[in-house]
Amino acid sequence: MSIIHTEKLRKVFSNKEERTVEAVKGISLDVQQGEIFGLLGPNGAGKTTTMRMLCTLLTPTSGLASVVGFDLHTQSKEIRKRIGYVSQKGGMEIVATGRENIMLQAQLYGMSKTEAAQRVTEVIDRLRLSNFADRKVITYSGGQRRIFDLASGIIHTPELLFLDEPSTGLDPQSRARVWEEVVGLHKAGTTIFLTTHYLEEADALCHRVAIVDQGDIVALGSPAELKRQIAGDIIVMGFDAENKIEEIRNLINKYERVKETQIADTSLHVFVDKGDQALPVIIQLLNQRGITPTTIQLSRPSLDDVFLKLTGRSLRESEASAKKDR
Ligand SMILES: Nc1ncnc2c1ncn2[C@@H]1O[C@H](COP(=O)(O)OP(=O)(O)O)[C@@H](O)[C@H]1O
Ligand SMILES: [Mg+2]
Repeated sequence: MSIIHTEKLRKVFSNKEERTVEAVKGISLDVQQGEIFGLLGPNGAGKTTTMRMLCTLLTPTSGLASVVGFDLHTQSKEIRKRIGYVSQKGGMEIVATGRENIMLQAQLYGMSKTEAAQRVTEVIDRLRLSNFADRKVITYSGGQRRIFDLASGIIHTPELLFLDEPSTGLDPQSRARVWEEVVGLHKAGTTIFLTTHYLEEADALCHRVAIVDQGDIVALGSPAELKRQIAGDIIVMGFDAENKIEEIRNLINKYERVKETQIADTSLHVFVDKGDQALPVIIQLLNQRGITPTTIQLSRPSLDDVFLKLTGRSLRESEASAKKDR
């Protein structure tokens, strides 16, 4: 059974200056019960907007969706009871303790005080939060705070949990901890729909991902399936600025083992059959012209390569330039 089903879900924002942004262009997807499903894409791709529509927090401009078996347009109240949502920024009151925060959350969901207290203790134990649960949130580390955000998202035992960038901005240990808890929740029976721009995490932890770019899905499937679409290997070569990368590309394109090339910044990505055999030939080709790459890397395709092949841009690069813009 699909726990989420969408058909051409679309969102256009228009502001006072009449400037409209088509943030989500018509997304159609199905998420199965019991999956960890990831929306993967650069900043501004429309991930948060998609998620907020599915959580009933934003009204779609057009399109259809059902979530946990209910219609998004007409049964939002039913949906809200059965889902949990942890926003990108989280929503904890910083001058209260973590326990007080999720206690309030539990009561907002209609639990009695006794019921709520019991459930809060259960969640605190489950997520191993008791060491700092009774301290004010303002004293928490980023990771501690994020796990408490998770706690508040599951206080009413939702069957479907939405997590918007659960591990963004955390140090590696805290990221691992957050993921460990997400996997734990999944094992306990919760379906997880999350957004991330960490490729490796999506690859390792999501059963299926939809790669989104500029409001559209550009690829959908299991990470293994998506990577298999790029049969063969990838050679990534870095060059000094004085090397004319376009010329190098044209030169390499002539070699029959080369299926495709993409330029990303100052590096050239070469999609080849049998990388271990192609690499020495390519280096020889370059050396004959007196060109020496500064770096060379031979690898199996990653989700970034999938994105690069489909959009002509690297996800990592889009990320880096988005950060510069901020
Ligand atoms: N409330 C809003 N009003 C106008 N534009 C918005 C609003 N929210 C998001 N956008 C725009 O929609 C696009 C998608 O944003 P978002 O869904 O937040 O992307 P992501 O979560 O993938 O980074 C961006 O261009 C963003 O600026
Ligand atoms: Mg976002």
